[in-house]
Amino acid sequence: MIRKKNVSGVIRERLPQNILNILKQVGRVADELGYNAYVVGGFVRDLFLRHENLDIDLVIEGDAVTFARHYASRFQNVRVRVFQKFKTAVIIYPDDFKVDVATARTEYYETPGALPIVERSSLKMDLYRRDFTINTLAVKLNERHFGILIDYFGAQRDLKDGRISVLHNLSFVEDPSRVFRAIRFEQRFGFKITKLTANLIENAGRINFFDRLSGTRLFSELKLILMEENPIPAISRLAEFDLLKFIHPMLRYDANTTWLLDQIRGVLSWHDLLFLEDSYERWYVYFLGLIEPLKEEQLLELTRRLNMQTKFAETLLWAKGAADHTLFRLYQRENPSPKEIYYLLHELSTEFLLYMMAKTRREGSKKAISLFITQLRNVRPHLAGKDLLDMGYEPGPRYKRILQHLLDAHLDGQVQTKEDEIASVLRRFGPPTKD
Ligand code: CTP
Repeated sequence: MIRKKNVSGVIRERLPQNILNILKQVGRVADELGYNAYVVGGFVRDLFLRHENLDIDLVIEGDAVTFARHYASRFQNVRVRVFQKFKTAVIIYPDDFKVDVATARTEYYETPGALPIVERSSLKMDLYRRDFTINTLAVKLNERHFGILIDYFGAQRDLKDGRISVLHNLSFVEDPSRVFRAIRFEQRFGFKITKLTANLIENAGRINFFDRLSGTRLFSELKLILMEENPIPAISRLAEFDLLKFIHPMLRYDANTTWLLDQIRGVLSWHDLLFLEDSYERWYVYFLGLIEPLKEEQLLELTRRLNMQTKFAETLLWAKGAADHTLFRLYQRENPSPKEIYYLLHELSTEFLLYMMAKTRREGSKKAISLFITQLRNVRPHLAGKDLLDMGYEPGPRYKRILQHLLDAHLDGQVQTKEDEIASVLRRFGPPTKD
């Protein structure tokens, strides 16, 4: 049964004014063309769950490309990017804010996991081809019906009861990546995958639909899971459904992995409290924790299965080896000096440092890495090439040696101020000579 109610009050109350304005403009432009326009999917779901989500997905009953072009022509500096083959477009605002526009469509897949074949259709068919009931809400935007909520598939009920449920039994056959989405949404919202949907997931595993899923898509779904605020319950759920083996057969969710992932979570919280602004890839640290059991040959297999870009794979293989090797060397040194710590760690990225800090069971090594992250990696001489020039030193390879000397002197605690540095340079390299 179709349930219709007006949610314009909720929209006004919960959305920022600029988003509300966009939705209204969309409705007016659709009216001019005689089209119906809806905002759909995750945006509407999150509106009801009170999760911030500003990814506007529009569905047009009509032609999305015509709509987008007409919309852009009505406002200054608004651009469109068109994907004619898919009958979709992106509206791009002057501040780079983007809105996706799709033609209401029926999609079918010639082979499972392939790109969809697209045909024009109605909103209902468009919503029916989607992954889960909770993603099938639509809000009409045309001026006269602004805010009418359309719920063909019981989405409000499932949102209220916290259920992740597919719309039909072939959902995972059409798109196996939805299995990972189901788990991600379940954990993100604290929902429960329904019994029927869980059976279909098990079935997908038994028949191995995932062989047909490209490495790129598999990796991107895994990444999305690892990007969740706390990905550990979702990883545990992947293991419960016995799905980790499709990423690599040797992945385990055993006591060691659980321990390491928990440590990673702790280390990331420690880091993020200290460095609010520091940007690094949180998901990557969890990824390193997850693939911890893999030996070098298996890591290579993983890079192939996930179709990793060559540069990314090379860095992963190199840094994983370097991190393990460095931990061993740290382990061997009872009380490493700051300079030793610096040179052991300075080539590793924040992600690998955090992974190592989580992985080591030795307090001394943890402290050394923490000292590097909080202090040593930021050590820089005050003097730069320009200052050496001002001091009268001829530019040349010597500059590198002088700056290196100053860095070491800082790490050894021999210099602190600029004056200390100048004195140290003069002592070590002698006064500048004029040729
Ligand atoms: N969708 C789908 N099957 C997929 C991926 C997406 O049916 N494999 C549909 C879903 O209905 C979803 C919409 O396409 O609502 C948009 O997908 P996406 O941008 O990934 O959506 P969100 O649901 O907003 O997820 P997230 O909150 O993670 O961005």
